[in-house]
Amino acid sequence: MSSEEKRYLWWQKGIIYQIYPRSFMDSNGDGIGDLPGITSKLSYLEWLGVDAIWISPIYPSPMADFGYDVADYTDIHPIFGTLDDFDRLLEEAHSKGLKVILDWVPNHTSDEHPWFIESRSSRDNPKRDWYIWRDPAPDGGPPNNWQSVFGGSAWEYDERTGQYYYHAFLAKQPDLNWRNPEVQEAMLNTLRFWFDRGVDGFRVDVMWHLIKDDQFRDNPINPDYKPGAYLKNLPEGVQLPQEIIEMAEAQMKYLPVYNTDRPEVHDIVRKIRQVADEYPERVIIGEIYLPVERLVKYYGEHGDGAHMPFNFQLILLPWNADEIFHAIDAYEKALPENAWPNWVLGNHDNHRIASRVGRDQARVAAMLLLTLRGTPTMYYGDEIGMKDVPIPPDMVQDPPAKRFPGLGLGRDPERTPMQWDSGPNAGFTTGTPWLPIADDYKEYNVEVERNNPKSFLSLYRALIGLRRSEPALHVGSYKSLPRNGDLIAYERAYGQQRFIVLLNLGNQQQTYTELGDIPCQVVLSTHMDRHGEKVSREVNLRANEGVILQVEQ
Ligand code: NOJ
Repeated sequence: MSSEEKRYLWWQKGIIYQIYPRSFMDSNGDGIGDLPGITSKLSYLEWLGVDAIWISPIYPSPMADFGYDVADYTDIHPIFGTLDDFDRLLEEAHSKGLKVILDWVPNHTSDEHPWFIESRSSRDNPKRDWYIWRDPAPDGGPPNNWQSVFGGSAWEYDERTGQYYYHAFLAKQPDLNWRNPEVQEAMLNTLRFWFDRGVDGFRVDVMWHLIKDDQFRDNPINPDYKPGAYLKNLPEGVQLPQEIIEMAEAQMKYLPVYNTDRPEVHDIVRKIRQVADEYPERVIIGEIYLPVERLVKYYGEHGDGAHMPFNFQLILLPWNADEIFHAIDAYEKALPENAWPNWVLGNHDNHRIASRVGRDQARVAAMLLLTLRGTPTMYYGDEIGMKDVPIPPDMVQDPPAKRFPGLGLGRDPERTPMQWDSGPNAGFTTGTPWLPIADDYKEYNVEVERNNPKSFLSLYRALIGLRRSEPALHVGSYKSLPRNGDLIAYERAYGQQRFIVLLNLGNQQQTYTELGDIPCQVVLSTHMDRHGEKVSREVNLRANEGVILQVEQ
């Protein structure tokens, strides 16, 4: 490794792998994944070649939103294990060179958190102001028109004290008042608790929600909103109660201008970053769903914000060459100086890539994710081509899906158990899994795919191996190249090393004609059968094929 390359930190050079702990590996047969389960699979992750794991919340919680409703920020939910189990996980991960990133949920707690129990107990409780309490509107209704992300008013009336509290998500997830310095101190100390234990970083839940308008102004009506928009998108024949339709319509009607992405949020992000900076080489990653020009503000005006505001464009954009190509260029241009880019292909809140674009195209997506400039975050199971799993109505778990029943909504389909082998329950549990296992797990699982040199898993491992071994791919420059039809093309370079990536985002054969006379060699095809082929001038790509070419010196 050159000294130049050493300047880059682990989270810049590395690949992050998200684990949804309920679904990764169950060690005790209760049907729910746990920390010892994760520890038992660390050698798999080491073999796969990723650098860091991010684990979705593992703290004590009533599980109204599966751990995103925290009742204690400095302990482990017994369903996942104990603090000792966590320390063991951390130690083993570190001994294998793997970093551990935890999820931190600062915007809201559970309504069962002792702070909220105190806060709601009386208007003059010292913790009253730790949450956001407001008097009813003159008509007795909610204080303003802010809507919960999960549907309905974001205000919940509390009989006992005659005020409403604000909850951006479920009523069981009251928002903390981050304008209160005591809240800031208490919450920032929870970060220190885990940093002191050796945790390498945090993924910060809904960072752009942290601060709300101090005057609680009503949100404006979305000028693009058309009444009836929700009904129009419903599958034919679905009948819903009027109340649910109204709730969904209200959600689409307003722009969340006053309850999200407020200018003062950046002061809070800076404080979070300062805590991370008290420790060497820790990372802060912000979960932020905003258009790119607002997203990049979260790097901080002086690079003193989040190290990486998550870039979700590969999840959100329509999957076609035009959109993706322009989005990459626009993102590269929007990045502030010295800001480190990142890309995310999947997570526990969105449909799996193999379901969104099909399994064949998902291999191209993998090549894109792992050859772009910036830290890639991958979602557990995507590396074996897992798809969303249909959830029978009586097994639905996710709160928003329960709220809008029968619509196949919700996030359970992308949260199903990891498929380890062809045995019962895909090797995930000896008990009854909390969500169903995919029907095709006997074909798509780690054990089977490990032994097939052309499998999804083998492709992922080859891509990861190549990215790790080539500085051009993990820290090199990015340059877009002219594109053809469904093809996108770009160059990654570092020193003398140059790679050209050609990706066919369509399902027809295409020829790339813009290469010129440069002599190249195929180092990897998504079909895994062209290694060493010499190409120049015109390169044929099969349907759903991507290739990485090395420019010959
Ligand atoms: C974002 C998390 O990713 C999601 O799963 C959760 O429901 C909300 N934040 C609320 O915490």
